[in-house]
Amino acid sequence: MSRIPLQTRLPKTCRILHIQKETEDVQTFTFDVSLGALPGQFVMLWIPGVDEKPFSIAGDDGKSLKVTFFAVGPMSTALSKMKVGELVGVRGPFGTNYEWEPKQKLALLAGGYGAAPMYFVANEAVKDDAEIDVIVGARSKKHLLYLSELSSLSNTTLHVATDDGSEGEKGYNVQVIKSLLDQGKSFDQIFACGPEMMLKAVLDVSKASGIPCQLSLERYMKCGYGLCGNCTVDPLGIRLCKEGPVVKGEVCEQITEFGKYHRDSVGRKHEF
Ligand SMILES: Cc1cc2nc3c(=O)[nH]c(=O)nc-3n(C[C@H](O)[C@H](O)[C@H](O)COP(=O)(O)OP(=O)(O)OC[C@H]3O[C@@H](n4cnc5c(N)ncnc54)[C@H](O)[C@@H]3O)c2cc1C
Ligand code: FES
Repeated sequence: MSRIPLQTRLPKTCRILHIQKETEDVQTFTFDVSLGALPGQFVMLWIPGVDEKPFSIAGDDGKSLKVTFFAVGPMSTALSKMKVGELVGVRGPFGTNYEWEPKQKLALLAGGYGAAPMYFVANEAVKDDAEIDVIVGARSKKHLLYLSELSSLSNTTLHVATDDGSEGEKGYNVQVIKSLLDQGKSFDQIFACGPEMMLKAVLDVSKASGIPCQLSLERYMKCGYGLCGNCTVDPLGIRLCKEGPVVKGEVCEQITEFGKYHRDSVGRKHEF
């Protein structure tokens, strides 16, 4: 039976304490609960009668828990319509977390809502005297997330890349780490969270440079704690809700579907 305690597997009813509108379709909810979560882990959010979906944890300060989400489909749109004071079912924390040693030099790459868990990493890693370069990427200026939070952290250098060049470097965040490495900058580890094609490019940089990486992979999740098998990946059969979502680069290399396809709620393959 799972070593995940029963109280983690069952939903807690949590109140929305605060709502921060980040961009036109992105919000951050603060819940009145601390789950003792680590950066990289996720929670399942449940709206009865709608759905239950996984969301990365953007912060857990011992008193409250934050989640940043895009309104893209039925569940996330229903969530986006909720108000301060309303209740949401929360299960977790689940999955693996990013791991670092004190004083390491870390490169953090964030795409889309990946900026939220990367902020959680940076906020915790600076307490261990890590030296951080964080590279946030987005389609354009208005889609960038967590810039003010990241720029307020000590020991942290913020870089920005946008596809259209409306802020920071024009192009992908992966090009920024490539040019930092070309300029002679060194890192002990690279962490990334974002769209899978971005993660694939990060894995290529990690292999070429010999710098180990940890990547957050997403697959369709139902139970969140290793029971249903919906989130397994070919050919390893590891469950990304339990042996992931944060996976070391050498494991990603063995996942043949990485950067190629994923499966939906009924196991049908979809190419990226
Ligand atoms: C481990 C894990 C962590 C996650 N963390 C977050 C998070 O922190 N924030 C967050 O917003 N989502 C996160 N997701 C995605 C989230 O679980 C849902 O899939 C998402 O909210 C859409 O659910 P839905 O039911 O509203 O729409 P669906 O019907 O599931 O999706 C509608 C459409 O939008 C696409 N889509 C799904 N997610 C996104 C997205 N984020 N941006 C653009 N298109 C998308 C789908 O491919 C589909 O085509 C995470 C997923 C996993 C597995
Ligand atoms: S979501 Fe059920 S095993 Fe991963």
